[in-house]
Amino acid sequence: MISKITIKAPSSTANLGPGFDVFGLALDALYDKVTLTKTKSGITIITSDDVPTKPENNTAGLVVKNMKKKFKIKDGVEIKIKKGIPAGFGMGSSAASAAATAVAFDKLFGLKLDKNSIVEFAGSGEKASAGSIHYDNVAASVLGGFVIVKTNPLDVIRIEPPTNLRMCIAVPKIKVPKKKTKVSRGVIPKKIKLTDSVLNLSNASGIVAGFMSKDPELIGNSIKDVIVEPARQHLIPGFTKVKENALKAGALGVTISGAGPSVIAFAKKSSNLKKIGLAMSRGFATANTKCQIIICKPSIGAIDKKNYS
Ligand code: HSE
Repeated sequence: MISKITIKAPSSTANLGPGFDVFGLALDALYDKVTLTKTKSGITIITSDDVPTKPENNTAGLVVKNMKKKFKIKDGVEIKIKKGIPAGFGMGSSAASAAATAVAFDKLFGLKLDKNSIVEFAGSGEKASAGSIHYDNVAASVLGGFVIVKTNPLDVIRIEPPTNLRMCIAVPKIKVPKKKTKVSRGVIPKKIKLTDSVLNLSNASGIVAGFMSKDPELIGNSIKDVIVEPARQHLIPGFTKVKENALKAGALGVTISGAGPSVIAFAKKSSNLKKIGLAMSRGFATANTKCQIIICKPSIGAIDKKNYS
């Protein structure tokens, strides 16, 4: 039996436009690292990052608490968290810590859980920061690649992304509210038009078909959301210009990354990614906002052997 394990989990983008709360894609950009060590009793959190250290308020702490309870584990657990993903920018930061913790806990106590159970426990930790459970980011972070989250019962489908798919993410340097996901979920309409639902469903189907047939063009031109993006875009300074500029610079599709405020452009390996990034920066500049540009490809997940030691 091991007494200590370290797991690395990737950042992710959720929704991909029309796949609200259903689609996720793991990003080979930034990572969170979690080390779990068995102790005599209790749950302690060690971190030098700006995250809550009370287990029930911390995504990783909540995962450990829930898993300890479910499997009647008496040992204590020390959780060491090293955050590489900025919190609150729509890159699955809390989900990555939760994903790494659920995978680490499973290995530390030899539980041999199936993928859906690991995603479910990771999702239970997300509640600490998002206020509600949704599995799109955690599923991507646990499994890697592109994921489709089916709920009731939870069943995550993973599809290997095309090797030539690339993303360009613009992370604006703005102040985000502490409970940002809760805030940005608050602006989404409760009722939608059937014609909008049909449009989103057709584009979501196009995205799935694009991942299945390894076709970045089909993925990109299906990144169209007429429901959530219009409701949220006012939360992102310069969004319309960032999107327009990226498309003009050759991006195949552009939308809000998860709950924002980062904006993600989808492109191909052969696209001029630097040009797209620069165009996005210029878009943010029109709203007097600076941004960081991250160019990346899809990532493997926390569950992959390469991601634990
Ligand atoms: N699907 C979620 C949302 C992702 O857009 O609110 C945020 O974590």
